[in-house]
Amino acid sequence: MFNKLVIASNNPGKLREIGEILAPLGIEVAPQSAFGVPEADEPYDTFIENALAKARHAAGITGLPALADDSGICVDTLGGAPGVHSARYAGEPRSDARNNAKLLEVLGGRQDRQAHYYCVMVLMRHAQDPQPLIAEGLWRGEILRAPRGSGGFGYDPLFLDPLFGQTGAELVPAQKNLMSHRGKALALLVDALRQRG
Ligand code: IMP
Repeated sequence: MFNKLVIASNNPGKLREIGEILAPLGIEVAPQSAFGVPEADEPYDTFIENALAKARHAAGITGLPALADDSGICVDTLGGAPGVHSARYAGEPRSDARNNAKLLEVLGGRQDRQAHYYCVMVLMRHAQDPQPLIAEGLWRGEILRAPRGSGGFGYDPLFLDPLFGQTGAELVPAQKNLMSHRGKALALLVDALRQRG
């Protein structure tokens, strides 16, 4: 097994959450920015294709094993949108505040506000790895009519977890990591990593 991983992301919210979850494993994680890796293109229509592209890009430039995630929020009544376009739903430059405002506007007064976050995690041992480890996670909830809470990032202030009755921005980090799409995908990835030895 290796003891150092590059994380193929520049999103501070994601980096913090992934670092928290992997810390107990004794694997040293470094963001790709520490190696001067620019953001990879994410041109694909599926999360998995984008995650593979990001991991391959970071592993190729750094020569280290790379962990990438691609994630987003999918709203049932919008046919799964914003989906892979979650980060830039309201266009460039990407802005959580404008994304949230657009989602509220698009949903308007609709009653059906069921949604889920989705995350796929990919670990490539090297850029030509023919057997990347892949794990996915889902977090079901609903979209509120107004934001609540100041933690988390992205769509968290609008995303209500039905079990806790709190938004992603109200949950304390340990609770969010337990419930979240990213936390679940990472836990499965870690299991797969242990099994592969
Ligand atoms: P990615 O960097 O292409 O995977 O974009 C993911 C985008 O989905 C983020 O920029 C957020 O807008 C949204 N997203 C993914 N996971 C979360 C989360 O845990 N909380 C809030 N928003 C999230």
